[in-house]
Amino acid sequence: MKQPYSPVYMRCIEEAKQDLQAKARPELTALPESIDGYDTVILAYPNYWGTMPMAVYTFLEAFDFSGKTILPLCTNEGSGMGSSEREIRKLCPGAQLKPGLPVTGSRAAQAEPELKRWLKANGLL
Ligand SMILES: Cc1cc2nc3c(=O)[nH]c(=O)nc-3n(C[C@H](O)[C@H](O)[C@H](O)COP(=O)(O)O)c2cc1C
Repeated sequence: MKQPYSPVYMRCIEEAKQDLQAKARPELTALPESIDGYDTVILAYPNYWGTMPMAVYTFLEAFDFSGKTILPLCTNEGSGMGSSEREIRKLCPGAQLKPGLPVTGSRAAQAEPELKRWLKANGLL
């Protein structure tokens, strides 16, 4: 985001909650010029308040994902994918959404085996 949330966890939590409630679309520092060259997009994000960070909404609304395949990966501390898959479906109605991979954030460094299984199941390995 152009204006990142606070590095202080408790403040960050509040700022993210305010953005969620306001349905904000935070500006991003950069976006790809185009996603035309991609058939499949691996969309990785943390679970914020049961869904994706609002910055991911900004990203998804910036492009037309029709005809593309989206593989969502959500790091979290207990809420799994939350409602993020439903939200992605709403934002990208023309995309094919594959079953997501929830990864425990604090165990992300050990998640390689499940990540590989997921990529293989989706024909990417
Ligand atoms: C603003 C904010 C809101 C969060 N909300 C949730 C939540 O609703 N459910 C959950 O399981 N984890 C939540 N988390 C934890 C993050 O999902 C977790 O920090 C993230 O997956 C990254 O893992 P890491 O911090 O170990 O890198 C939240 C974290 C932040 C900063």
